[in-house]
Amino acid sequence: AATVRHEAEAAPAVCGGVVEANHAGHSGSGFCNTDNAVGVALEFKVDAAAAGTVTLAFGYANGGTAGRPGEVVVNGAAVRTAQFGATGAWTSWVTETVTAQLNAGVNTVRLQATGATGLANIDYLDV
Ligand code: GCU
Ligand code: CA
Repeated sequence: AATVRHEAEAAPAVCGGVVEANHAGHSGSGFCNTDNAVGVALEFKVDAAAAGTVTLAFGYANGGTAGRPGEVVVNGAAVRTAQFGATGAWTSWVTETVTAQLNAGVNTVRLQATGATGLANIDYLDV
């Protein structure tokens, strides 16, 4: 199926932080900047025509010096850890992919920071 982009700054996504647009190169009208704290989150709704394994591609930038790992929680179950390694600048946007199993219909895909620096700046989720 064609890739669908879910922007982090647009409903029904819920950014547990502030939507900003001050770092050039992001997709859409902005990105999600979470607080620097464990447990901060960003939640997407992903509609799947059928159950199955998909690639989740998160667009992000991390201008810090260390990774900003996060748990990928699908429909309430933690399924993967994504690393969100440093990208060198807040304007350097890359993608990180993980695979996950989705149900048919609307799925909740939540990213949850596991480190004290919170999440990287997250731009979108492509599925
Ligand atoms: C800077 C940057 C933000 C980023 C933050 C962070 O303030 O401008 O976009 O989210 O660092 O370290 O989390
Ligand atoms: Ca931040």
